[in-house]
Amino acid sequence: MPASLVVGTQWGDEGKGKIVDILAEKAHMVVRYQGGNNAGHTVVNDQEKYEMHLLPSGVLYPDTMAVMGQGMVIDPWALIEEMEGLKKRGVSIENLYISDSAHLVLPYHILLDKLEEKLRGTDKLGTTVKGIGPAYTDKAARRGIRMGDILHPQRLKRSLEIALRYHNQVLKKVFHESCVDLEELLAKLLDLGEILKPHICNTSLKIAQNWEAGRHIFFEGAHGTLLDIDNGSYPYVTSSSTVAGAVAGGAGFPPGNVDEIIGVVKAYTTRVGEGVFPTEEDSSTGDKLREAGGEYGVTTRRPRRCGWLDIPLLKHSLRINGADWLALTKMDVLSFMDEIQVATAYKLDGEIIQEMPTDMEKLERCEPVYEFLPGWKQDLQHIREYENLPSQAREYVKFLEEKTHLPVKLISVGPDRKQVILRGGIG
Ligand code: GDP
Ligand code: IMO
Ligand code: MG
Repeated sequence: MPASLVVGTQWGDEGKGKIVDILAEKAHMVVRYQGGNNAGHTVVNDQEKYEMHLLPSGVLYPDTMAVMGQGMVIDPWALIEEMEGLKKRGVSIENLYISDSAHLVLPYHILLDKLEEKLRGTDKLGTTVKGIGPAYTDKAARRGIRMGDILHPQRLKRSLEIALRYHNQVLKKVFHESCVDLEELLAKLLDLGEILKPHICNTSLKIAQNWEAGRHIFFEGAHGTLLDIDNGSYPYVTSSSTVAGAVAGGAGFPPGNVDEIIGVVKAYTTRVGEGVFPTEEDSSTGDKLREAGGEYGVTTRRPRRCGWLDIPLLKHSLRINGADWLALTKMDVLSFMDEIQVATAYKLDGEIIQEMPTDMEKLERCEPVYEFLPGWKQDLQHIREYENLPSQAREYVKFLEEKTHLPVKLISVGPDRKQVILRGGIG
């Protein structure tokens, strides 16, 4: 099976990092293809906890190549900090390849993210304030600075001149902020270029060469489908394409060559930041879910909003991604519940609908129609065989399979790498 892809099916934080870490054990190369350090992926192994923001989760395996594709936006300071942090813990990052075409997140993007959120006032998006939106804006406006530029002083100076011609006007005239000093930024970036130089290359070629040699390539999606710029809850989304198909542009990998797409589904739903959330449980039950699941952002430490599993939303997401099978995470978190709710349809203006509307005003008006499943009231964290799960937990899995018409081949029952139940020939 030479190419696999993991994608988040909800609003992010489904547990993608853990799933990639488990499945990538046999992969030769793990590739991130979109987003930046707005992502926060947690891997727990042998009692050690790692939080990755930019580096693919597979980087923890010593022989696995880690690739950062051209669809990413990379804050070079944050990247070096993450690389240094891992090195200090004995993780080798020699096998790291960074696309020369990936765009940079620069300090003025972070400042603009902050200023733009402030300008929106009560209509703020609740971004991670990592400069992601402004960096992707510059990319689309064709004034972005790319990784390859920081290896060439003259080229970098020219690109910065063009970018700052625009940004210094905006900073000064719109936001009354001080201008960015070109020479100072240029010098800093050239220094960073020296550190990153051994890693910067044509990554799509590197991926193709390894794929042609029959090596297993693993693509790690960041964020979640409902945060996708085109298919998510716009405008409360991130600024990249987060769906499986984004691998084509973001890694330069032909979509037809992806053999399996794995949709990661959390056993309930969470979201960070503002925006519609039909099954949100803004109550003491939501608070209990947050505490039981440790639902606090990896990137911003914000408390995550919590609610029930939402089948119409999942159907939308799984259709767009073309998922082949599901990895169900955080089943153990539901163990405290007597009864578990799952939204199986919505009521919109008095009518029952099965599909999630893509018109966000309509989605705001949707009331979830719930079915109630019995809880299992038992700790699941020590269970490794599907047959040993309590019957109510197996019923929950079966319910999800029936509603989505997809097999659940992996069930995660705790944060640790080992806390997993594999089904259907995986592993
Ligand atoms: P990602 O962004 O999708 O990689 O997910 P995050 O790392 O942001 O959030 C998932 C959180 O849940 C992390 O703290 C993980 O360690 C933890 N986690 C992952 N799978 C499980 C699980 O099955 N059970 C429990 N209790 N925690 C899990
Ligand atoms: P992982 O990969 C959860 C959310 C932010 C905000 C919106 C826009 O860990 O699942 P941005 O900074 O991207 O412009 O913020 O998107 N967001 C995430 N929420 N998990 C993530 O990543 C997210 N990445 C962005 O909270 O609502
Ligand atoms: Mg996360």
